[in-house]
Amino acid sequence: MIQKNEFFESIVNNRQKHPERLNASFNRIEEVLQILSIVKADEIIEKCKTEIDHSRNQLTDNEGVYVYKTINSLCTEKELKRIAELLFLSEISTKEAISLHEEYKIPVSHLEKDIIPISGDGAWITDNVNRRFLDMDSNYSATNLGMSNREIALGIYNQAIQLISMKEDRVHIPRTRFLKNIHEMLPDGLTQFYWQNSGGEAVDKALKIAKAYTKNAGVVAMKGGFHGRTHGAVSVTYEEKYRKPFFLHNQDWVHFVEFNDAEAVKNLFEKNKAKTVILELVQGEEAGIRPAEREFPKKLRDICDQYNGVMIVDEIQTGFGRTAEKENQWFASMVYDVIPDIMTIGKSFGGGYPVTAVVTNKQVSNAMKPGYDGSTFGGNPMAMVAAMIATRQMREKNITKNVIERSQQIINGLKRIRDENNSIGEIRGLGLMLSFQLSSPEKVAEFQKEIARNGVKTSLSTREWVRFLPPLIISKTDVDFLLKAIAQTLQII
Ligand SMILES: Cc1ncc(COP(=O)(O)O)c(C=O)c1O
Repeated sequence: MIQKNEFFESIVNNRQKHPERLNASFNRIEEVLQILSIVKADEIIEKCKTEIDHSRNQLTDNEGVYVYKTINSLCTEKELKRIAELLFLSEISTKEAISLHEEYKIPVSHLEKDIIPISGDGAWITDNVNRRFLDMDSNYSATNLGMSNREIALGIYNQAIQLISMKEDRVHIPRTRFLKNIHEMLPDGLTQFYWQNSGGEAVDKALKIAKAYTKNAGVVAMKGGFHGRTHGAVSVTYEEKYRKPFFLHNQDWVHFVEFNDAEAVKNLFEKNKAKTVILELVQGEEAGIRPAEREFPKKLRDICDQYNGVMIVDEIQTGFGRTAEKENQWFASMVYDVIPDIMTIGKSFGGGYPVTAVVTNKQVSNAMKPGYDGSTFGGNPMAMVAAMIATRQMREKNITKNVIERSQQIINGLKRIRDENNSIGEIRGLGLMLSFQLSSPEKVAEFQKEIARNGVKTSLSTREWVRFLPPLIISKTDVDFLLKAIAQTLQII
């Protein structure tokens, strides 16, 4: 049975318990009554409207008391429970949430309005109208452990009430705890960290470190590569539409070469035009998931050794087990059996909490001198708590084993579907960074819309490629659900 105060607090917020929430808005209450087809909805709305100021989108405490009493007197116990459940998902209406975003967002990207995610449970997401979706996106691979995490929440809470912030330069204990335990996950020799807050920032700083070491401004980057949106990171990102509006399409220090073309890199190094190469070992965002040829990274390693150059592997998306072929292959570099000079890491590093880093060896690290760089929030206590707990969970849950098993399950399932339905073209990827090809970008859009109706959220696509980046904890039953939904969707579109 629903507690009386629980229903009340879904309308008039208890700030002691939920400082993050507001009083409900009347629009949301109307929406909830409608979603649940509450029998006396019209009567409730009519009655409440006489007491409520509609120019405001949030009930005052007094108005809330009136609405609470009205609903309480006109609904059954069961209805009250369901109303409270939906109001606890969100006290704000869909319309208001979307309109405030539309009004105040600088339109740097398309606003995704089809699903308003509220909570996560394993590989599943619940939205504001209580629909459930299997998550095949993991917030661009930032939530490999799922969309909610009690242990990280508790750690962050404990840390926040003790010491919420501390700059990168100062010794602090949460970072010390992290450093005591992380090295077993990293490639040999990559021991030095420079903490950042986003992937783009980490790439930016990696480029600065590489330039300080090589004393050469030139950088070779890959066609089809993606490294983020800061000035530096976007400069080495291939797609011209990301660079041109900002006059970053003709930078003399950046040289793009074909992915897998080691000779082209060697040529540029030989002519002293560059001494740094940056790449993703599995191209993600822009290439629609494209693993490097097996020998390519090793060839780059040899070239960098020969010319005393720097090999930067951007593991922001591939890192923390996503591409594992064997257990404990935490980075794609381990799958390809190379040790880069610099690795950038981020996304799932903090289990969803923003924390990223540049990791390098002692030799390259020594090129940086005090005053060369700095960060207010890099490696702050909250971020380090999240990173320590998230990386510990990755090891304890042995997630690379699950990556290997689920990857095979998805690939085999997709092949079986392809045998019966020839709309699937190539299937490619590594670990749980997978994609398959449909006939056109329009077909992909149709597929994504339709599969959402079947309970699968796949916001990711690149041209005619449907990309999958599920949380690495996705279960066998979840993958069965996914494959069934794919087969059903392909029959319809
Ligand atoms: C390989 C790679 N590098 C860098 C980034 C940028 O990360 P962020 O969005 O955290 O700046 C991304 C983001 O998708 C990425 O996939």
